[in-house]
Amino acid sequence: MEKETRKKILRKIPYGLYILGLRDGEKLHAMVGSWLSQCSFEPPLLMLGLKKGSYSHTMLEHNPFFSINFPSKDQKKLVERFFRPHEAKDGKFGEVPFHVGKNGAPVLDEAIGHLECQAKQIIPGGDHDIVMAEVIDGELVQDVDSLTMKDTAWHYGG
Ligand SMILES: Cc1cc2nc3c(=O)[nH]c(=O)nc-3n(C[C@H](O)[C@H](O)[C@H](O)COP(=O)(O)O)c2cc1C
Repeated sequence: MEKETRKKILRKIPYGLYILGLRDGEKLHAMVGSWLSQCSFEPPLLMLGLKKGSYSHTMLEHNPFFSINFPSKDQKKLVERFFRPHEAKDGKFGEVPFHVGKNGAPVLDEAIGHLECQAKQIIPGGDHDIVMAEVIDGELVQDVDSLTMKDTAWHYGG
């Protein structure tokens, strides 16, 4: 199979866009993620493709509790801000305010909702591992559609 064809087909897989909130001791971090899917009703499990060797991967190995923040359709700029890492200072990642959720991970104040999760397993993959995580808690602040990859010109995949 041609690499270009494979890329085109793989890019037809629909993805959401999320901002993951992580904690390792006193260090807080947020990253953009898209390779996320529900994979069990009971218990409610999610699977996430997470880049090996990334800061977030290391953090999750140290502390399994993290948040998944959902941006609205008009919060493309919010997501863009996390294309590069921001130091958490005075309740903000750069300009973006957050609070600490029940599981200790940072939760973005402006997101339409979030889930609080606990990684149960990190399954070895290729250049990304699969994080199998249980949904422990969450909040829906605004019941509107969330931003998806299709709403943007971005790609992560192929
Ligand atoms: C649109 C978009 C989607 C992304 N999706 C994922 C993803 O699903 N999994 C992942 O590991 N990295 C993903 N990334 C890359 C991470 O955001 C990037 O590697 C991250 O900044 C590295 O994380 P670190 O700060 O923890 O080292 C995505 C990046 C963009 C721009």
